[in-house]
Amino acid sequence: MGVGHQSKQVMEKKTSRKKRDEGEEETGCWVKLRFMGSCMSSRSRVDNSMSGRTENKTTKEKSRDQPVVPVSSTTSNAESASSTPKFSEELKVASQLRKFTFIDLKLATRNFRPESLLGEGGFGCVFKGWIEENGTAPVKPGTGLTVAVKTLNIDGLQGHKEWLAEVDFLGNLLHPNLVKLVGYCIEDDHRLLVYEFMPRGSLENHLFRKGSLPLPWSIRMKIALGAAKGLAFLHEEAERPVIYRDFKTSNILLDADYNAKLSDFGLAKDGPEGDKTHVSTRVMGTYGYAAPEYVMTGHLTSKSDVYSFGVVLLEMLTGRRSMDKNRPNGEHNLVEWARPHLGDKRRIFRILDPRLEGHFSINGAQKAAQLAAQCLSRDPKPDLE
Ligand SMILES: Nc1ncnc2c1ncn2[C@@H]1O[C@H](COP(=O)(O)OP(=O)(O)OP(=O)(O)O)[C@@H](O)[C@H]1O
Ligand SMILES: [Mg+2]
Repeated sequence: MGVGHQSKQVMEKKTSRKKRDEGEEETGCWVKLRFMGSCMSSRSRVDNSMSGRTENKTTKEKSRDQPVVPVSSTTSNAESASSTPKFSEELKVASQLRKFTFIDLKLATRNFRPESLLGEGGFGCVFKGWIEENGTAPVKPGTGLTVAVKTLNIDGLQGHKEWLAEVDFLGNLLHPNLVKLVGYCIEDDHRLLVYEFMPRGSLENHLFRKGSLPLPWSIRMKIALGAAKGLAFLHEEAERPVIYRDFKTSNILLDADYNAKLSDFGLAKDGPEGDKTHVSTRVMGTYGYAAPEYVMTGHLTSKSDVYSFGVVLLEMLTGRRSMDKNRPNGEHNLVEWARPHLGDKRRIFRILDPRLEGHFSINGAQKAAQLAAQCLSRDPKPDLE
């Protein structure tokens, strides 16, 4: 049984995802941010949005690339955050993080203006901004340090808990294949995150955005290697092992040289300790990327990330989304569609991205397909070192 089938057992967490570069409806961030106060103002609404994460569906829901939520509620809303005073107590931030005021970030993004909008995800809108090289003060566009400012959307269902996880995990991790968290803002009901700006945006946009130029083979492999290094660091090298849990193309960001960096640690979890083989969690992740065994049992291991890596590798090889309801029946779920082709060295050429127009390494494609097959197999999955 494939992941797609199992994913149907879980409810969709979220909701509005408007990507302006996909030419989709653009109202979300704009409307909210025209009333910036209302974008992040009401504490009770923040709490509501978090406690309602399993049921708050809106008309903007899309079937693809949706985070998934619990099949079994082992921890249920115990995972949700409580009121603001406690937030500050929970916040043990790494000292190198810069603490911004809301007004700093408002000015740095030129009032969160639409022209600065980089994209929108489950957390909220992301804006381009400029700050002092070594401080927190806003500076003139094009000078100082360019940053991406992520704003918490109170209508969103990833709430304070994810914000906290991001500060806690990413704030303490430094690696060339993880996006750098520059700082944060926690002020009244405002929750923002400030990252290094990644000039080439997300892998998702390069692979699937209408009008984007096809990524050459060598760049695809460079990105796969960089992303694998980021995951391997989390699993094997970080001081305390981390399970990332949300590995997907939109969370792989690219610098000017197409170096891949993982972003979004809102769902990250500490790995199992001692002789434990897994951690038990509510099932969270994204349709089409979550490992079937994790979705079925709630048992989370680093191998769940390895499965998701296999899905992303397959997306890079085929140029197809992990879930695509617009394709003919039998081709909606990428893993199910591709799997029969992966074991045969000649058959894999039938599923390679036609946009490559034959420009790829035969040997490299066979190896990559073999690796994807291993990652997607039930057991054993390879390490990503
Ligand atoms: N540091 C950054 N530099 C440049 N662009 C960024 C940066 N962070 C995010 N973006 C852009 O903003 C978009 C939205 O990012 P965000 O992480 O909020 O959502 P997502 O990854 O698309 O979805 P999800 O919430 O499910 O993870 C990204 O797809 C990317 O295009
Ligand atoms: Mg993301």
